[in-house]
Amino acid sequence: GAASKGEYRHFMLKEIHEQPTVIAAALEGRLGDRNVLVESFGPEAETLFAGVRQIHLVACGTSYHAGLVARYWLERYAGVPVQVEVASEYRYRRVVVPEGTLFVTLSQSGETADTLAALRFARDRDYLGSLAICNVPGSSLVRESDLTLMTRAGPEIGVASTKAFTTQLTALMLLTLALGRLRGQDPDEQAGLVEALRGLPGLVRRVLSLDPAIEALSTAFGEKHHALFLGRGAHFPIALEGALKLKEISYIHAEAYPAGELKHGPLALVDSEMPVISVAPNDELLDKLKSNLQEVRARGGELFVFADAEVGLAEEEGVHVLRLPHVHEALAPILYTLPLQLLSYHVAVLKGTDVDQPRNLAKSVTVE
Ligand code: G6P
Repeated sequence: GAASKGEYRHFMLKEIHEQPTVIAAALEGRLGDRNVLVESFGPEAETLFAGVRQIHLVACGTSYHAGLVARYWLERYAGVPVQVEVASEYRYRRVVVPEGTLFVTLSQSGETADTLAALRFARDRDYLGSLAICNVPGSSLVRESDLTLMTRAGPEIGVASTKAFTTQLTALMLLTLALGRLRGQDPDEQAGLVEALRGLPGLVRRVLSLDPAIEALSTAFGEKHHALFLGRGAHFPIALEGALKLKEISYIHAEAYPAGELKHGPLALVDSEMPVISVAPNDELLDKLKSNLQEVRARGGELFVFADAEVGLAEEEGVHVLRLPHVHEALAPILYTLPLQLLSYHVAVLKGTDVDQPRNLAKSVTVE
């Protein structure tokens, strides 16, 4: 029957809470004991992947943000150079295709006009082959690609994408490990990541239980007109996605910056009217991020920090800290997406917007 909201007030909230289940579904049958099963990408995947020397990754909207995260993973764990581009730009470029390039599209719907046009454009170029990571079986993108990996998020009704994004990230980590395996990734590193993936649905569930605390934080945004999201490394795209969610459903103007760029412009905007949201997992960039946050505080900006429980960031006047369970550093971008989804959701509810159907936006953009 028709999708139902069940006990939830909005589809978006229901879909946020489905994430432990759909991430587990995205992993189902695709993990071996100590590695990812390359055949998850189809019987031809192993041969095709063996020839991959670089990747062009093309998508729109939230799917593009997933691609930006994957670049960090593919470089670090599979040693593959990656270009990521929005489809509407890619399709009109005189793109140069080096030998051994795999063309990857990411799309929830599989029907986004620009992404589909980019695939059709790529088919006439000298690519090694194409892979679609998609949520809709039988969609145009799936039908027209050489290889496919379904994200298994189930129907997503809320226009602002949530579970489709985190399952795309999960699928992209599988791609990273599949390529890593064929490119000499340290087997222990791969085994560690596979184990971490198995624990991911449980961690996601724990983060969802922080919802009341996130709802409490959201009240600070009711009267705000702007917000700045900061992240470093693979969390820069997570900051971009956080800003997109806030814009889409609460209509608050939000920007995201890599925290290291703060001094090159956005710091000029920081005052007591500019809330600054940051994700601070426990990684090698933490100390640098901390000093960026001090600069914001010194200008009176109110800080909202989502931080690893082990990081030791103190709650103080103007600094709100929400602690997340410790997670394998590679999977932190997936986990840290959740509080940003919930924050936007609660701000939108507070502002009384049409959360599932934000003004002027469509679930799927099938015309250029
Ligand atoms: C629209 C939707 C977004 C989505 C984007 C790309 O803008 O509102 O949520 O991220 O299209 O859609 P796709 O189906 O290709 O992932």
